[in-house]
Amino acid sequence: MEEEGIEFETGKSFYNPHMHFCRSFSSLLVGSLPEGLSVLDGFSASGIRGIRYAKENQNISSIDFVEMQEEAAALCGKNAAGNGVSAEIHEQEFNSFLMDRHYDFLEIDPFGSPAPHIYHAVRSFRNKKSGYLSITATDTAVLCGAHPDACKRVYHSLPLHDEIFHEAGIRILLKYVSRVANEFNFGISPLASLSRRHFFKIFLKLEKGSKKALGDFNSTGYLIFCSACGHRESGRMGMETCPMCGKKPSVAGPLWLGELHHPETLEKMESLNSMRDYAHKEELAETLSIMQGEIGMPPWFFEIHKTCGRLGIQPPPKTKTLLKSLREESFRAEPTHFSPIGIKTDADITAFGKSLKA
Ligand SMILES: C[S@@+](CC[C@H](N)C(=O)[O-])C[C@H]1O[C@@H](n2cnc3c(N)ncnc32)[C@H](O)[C@@H]1O
Ligand SMILES: [Zn+2]
Repeated sequence: MEEEGIEFETGKSFYNPHMHFCRSFSSLLVGSLPEGLSVLDGFSASGIRGIRYAKENQNISSIDFVEMQEEAAALCGKNAAGNGVSAEIHEQEFNSFLMDRHYDFLEIDPFGSPAPHIYHAVRSFRNKKSGYLSITATDTAVLCGAHPDACKRVYHSLPLHDEIFHEAGIRILLKYVSRVANEFNFGISPLASLSRRHFFKIFLKLEKGSKKALGDFNSTGYLIFCSACGHRESGRMGMETCPMCGKKPSVAGPLWLGELHHPETLEKMESLNSMRDYAHKEELAETLSIMQGEIGMPPWFFEIHKTCGRLGIQPPPKTKTLLKSLREESFRAEPTHFSPIGIKTDADITAFGKSLKA
């Protein structure tokens, strides 16, 4: 196999070519971090992720790999050596491996939910002032409300299964990590949060301090979504009655209501991307630019077609046209990476509906 100039073998180990974009995005993120990072690729499979991190970025001082499947661990060692990456390869289970190890950056890329690994990952930073987590979740059906009981059981949150479910889902994941981090007196700063295809990818900086940890509590709350009239809002508490139409809204949470991305991190990633010749260079640039626009906006968006359907407006306007008319009405309006037909805006459903008709 080949990915971004790295040749590697996959054998019977897991390799998903659809995660190529995610690995490039993640490698840009790694490159945006400070110098001298010790990195653990904790679920390495063939090792392609960690090998790319190490080959593409100058700021990594060391990289190790953990993989519990025998054949994959052997291949990972072969692939790392074959690409001139000097690393320790550990054929072991991630949580037990981390009992007495410490790294600056942990890559958590398991099958399905990352939840069973978050405690051990955060715990490994306990003697440090800060640390970085890169976390993949492919149990998006759970986080997005297709299996609400599983979401309650695993993430201790009520999910949403409507219009803005991807954003609600990634915010539930962030809340989960923050709650575990808070137990160890860390607060979280999301550096970038990506929703794409079947997966979520979140990158966080953990910072020690009771003030920082308490700050997370104030960034946690609920999304209220009324499927009857399309009203949505966020708050520290749930709500029994929609303030717009009086019907019973859906309530999702607790979830993370703070920012999803860190502006300077995205800027550094944009700059690195412009210097690299990634296969997804243009798409990466577009995603990073849209993410910049999401900063400072409400923790939800409007999906144009769903809202038009709800309000009986046909045909739906184009995203660009709608952005323009909302801005002409002095509302803030930005596209969102959660949906190509989604708009983040500070307009409420009434004003949004008016712009849809304009
Ligand atoms: C989704 S794949 C990783 C893909 C890889 N990071 C990439 O980008 O190609 C997950 C890998 O983690 C391994 N794995 C699953 N649970 C693990 C655990 N608890 N500890 C260590 N390895 C684990 C699996 O054997 C599998 O190879
Ligand atoms: Zn309503």
